[in-house]
Amino acid sequence: MEQIFRQSRGERGARHMNPVIAMFAVAVALVAAPVAAQPLGGISSQWSDPDIWDIARGGQLYDDWMVVLEHPEPKGNHPAYPDIGKKKGKATWRCKECHGWDYMGEDGAYGKGGHYTGIKGLRRAVGMEIDELMNIIRDKTHQYTEAMIPDSAVRKLALFVSRGQVGMDQYIDRPSGRARGDLRRGASFFQTVCAICHGFDGATMVSRTATALAAFGDRGYLGTVADDNPWETLHKIRNGQPGVGMVALRVLSVQDQVDVLAYMQTLRRRRQ
Ligand code: HEC
Ligand code: HEC
Repeated sequence: MEQIFRQSRGERGARHMNPVIAMFAVAVALVAAPVAAQPLGGISSQWSDPDIWDIARGGQLYDDWMVVLEHPEPKGNHPAYPDIGKKKGKATWRCKECHGWDYMGEDGAYGKGGHYTGIKGLRRAVGMEIDELMNIIRDKTHQYTEAMIPDSAVRKLALFVSRGQVGMDQYIDRPSGRARGDLRRGASFFQTVCAICHGFDGATMVSRTATALAAFGDRGYLGTVADDNPWETLHKIRNGQPGVGMVALRVLSVQDQVDVLAYMQTLRRRRQ
């Protein structure tokens, strides 16, 4: 899977150089038109990042590498998972469980409640060398072996940690959990990009069976997820959902992604 994606991307880059550049110009023009007053920095810099897919993939691995890699869950708790933590087994092996959806560890949303571990976040690691980060993921604290997460995936995780994080406090008001976004802009993205799979009301989970619905309950509605965990939702908007065919909006500016989140927070919480 990893291999196939890499190849297809490489081939396209080599054989169709000019159309890609042309697409770039058209896309910038289209996206820029309605927001001419805003600087283009965010958009153009993300377009020109040749690692954008690997970074998004790294974000999915950060979310749940076992699902992305179809790896059976390791036995027992992660060795670095503290006794004070309330989670067991598989959950303790996910990066997000110790470092948080907001990448702030104990300084963020996981500073209290059922996900508390007292472990620090990853904000200090922004901009760190990829090799250094790969070594951390393989170190004595983490103990992720090559058999669990191959080097190609560890590299994507490192790219995500170094270049894929966003400082969420700038975009989501922490006390209220409200996203600081433009609802009208968010609605236009949601209705044209997300609704095809999730419905205009965000109440459709395309792959969800009756059993899964019974298990997840109210979480089947995007309005609920966006309300209850805006940090998780922003992470998924940017990187996609592990193990399923979902888009990643990383190519858009962070503000556009936050606009989508703000709109999702207006969607209904459950079927009425
Ligand atoms: C069970 C808990 C746990 C899990 C799961 C976990 N980590 Fe960590 N991580 C830690 C602890 C504890 C430290 C601090 C180690 C230290 O300071 O010596 C840390 C530190 C780090 C650091 C260094 C941060 C800094 O500021 O120096 C990075 C980067 C990191 N982890 C990435 C990851 C990634 C990527 C994953 C998933 C593949 C992951 N971690 C999963 C517990 C965890
Ligand atoms: C091609 C189909 C597709 C598109 C387009 C799509 N998604 Fe998804 N999304 C999925 C699938 C499949 C799932 C997993 C559902 C499940 O677990 O049953 C999912 C899950 C999610 C979740 C996690 C829900 C949960 O309970 O954990 C969020 C949040 C989400 N999508 C948001 C979005 C947003 C926002 C957009 C538009 C930017 C979007 N999706 C576009 C297919 C899609």
